Amino acid sequence: MPVLVETDSGVVPLLLQAMPAGSHAVAAADRMYVWLDQHIDEYVVALGPSLPLDLALSYAEDLRIAKPTVSVVLLRSEFDTDALTRAMHAGVRDVIAADDEKGLTKAVERAHQLYLALRGPGGARQMGRIVTVFSPKGGVGKTTSSVNLALALSDKGARKVCLVDLDLAFGDVAITMQLFPTHSIEQAVGSEDSIDLAMIEGLLTRHQDSLNVLAAPAHPDVRERVTPLLISRILRALRDGFDYIVVDTSPSFDDATLTALDETDECVIIATLDVPTLKNVKVALETMDMLNIARGHRHLLLNRADDEVGISVDKVESILNMPVAVQVRSAIDVAAATNAGTPIVSAQPGHAASRAYVELASTLTGEPVAAPAPAAPGADSGSKSRGGLFRRGRS
Ligand SMILES: Nc1ncnc2c1ncn2[C@@H]1O[C@H](COP(=O)(O)OP(=O)(O)O)[C@@H](O)[C@H]1O
Ligand SMILES: [Mg+2]
Repeated sequence: MPVLVETDSGVVPLLLQAMPAGSHAVAAADRMYVWLDQHIDEYVVALGPSLPLDLALSYAEDLRIAKPTVSVVLLRSEFDTDALTRAMHAGVRDVIAADDEKGLTKAVERAHQLYLALRGPGGARQMGRIVTVFSPKGGVGKTTSSVNLALALSDKGARKVCLVDLDLAFGDVAITMQLFPTHSIEQAVGSEDSIDLAMIEGLLTRHQDSLNVLAAPAHPDVRERVTPLLISRILRALRDGFDYIVVDTSPSFDDATLTALDETDECVIIATLDVPTLKNVKVALETMDMLNIARGHRHLLLNRADDEVGISVDKVESILNMPVAVQVRSAIDVAAATNAGTPIVSAQPGHAASRAYVELASTLTGEPVAAPAPAAPGADSGSKSRGGLFRRGRS
């Protein structure tokens, strides 16, 4: 949604009124840059009348190269031919008088049309979105959730999905899916400057359910040689070829995890109903706040959400100060399905856990869930309520 950079809070409401619902204002350019980094589908930035011309033009000049699909609309209380010429050279798409609200509305509409045209007819492939699955604790179900979420997102091949195992020392995505990769991220080590989609595609292992996996190295010591730059280049290259890139992580804010979180569009945080995990998740959320990671794009998955342990969902929500987006109860079928190499989403689509992962996938894609598959006999053991999940939106 459009963003307005304006320091004078007196004029902000009027200008926002002329922009589409959901547009928002920031008082400084650094907030605008953070927003653009987190929203790859942003199409317009309006630079308010209070910004000094030189400063505004320097932002426009910068965005022209760094974010070519983002149009810059410049609002001025007064301008002359010289200013117009300079604005044009800086790549400003429209210069609008500060009190011309209709003009601003039209300029934003034009920016949107241009954006759609640049993306190609019929909304041709958008850049893929990165979904990072994270928890500061091990054994809470990160890998299980990543694998099942990736399969749910793929929807039997309807969307192209790549699952990246960034638990570089102890990654077990491949073994979890009973894959035997001949290549892994290890073969990309040292290729920071030559990474492209074709090269990475050569390193992927295909799972039967039309899911591609970039496996972790076979040996833990390789981790030291996988640089953050390599990881960010790989993730960016994958955006060109896949609709979704799901990233499984290690249980710590190591370099690999931080790099993935920096690149991520959506973050799924896994918690379980035990005090140490909740405490660590809380600290992790605070750290993410401090680092400004995935704010407004965090989804809490409560795994093993059984009710016998004395901590209620409400309690979890109040401790973590965010809603539980989805619950997956403890179910032997979940573990058994992964152990058999066909994760639950593929093995038993009607299972409560599968439906929970599909529901999370639909939250992430913003598309309605496909009609739920019929429940297999006895498949509902993982859930107390129908569907086994309570969607409460996202943080
Ligand atoms: N909802 C669940 N019900 C039953 N077993 C589960 C569930 N979630 C995870 N598990 C099992 O718990 C173990 C740890 O899960 P895993 O996904 O590997 O955790 P992590 O990646 O966080 O270390 C695995 O054996 C997995 O099969
Ligand atoms: Mg794991």
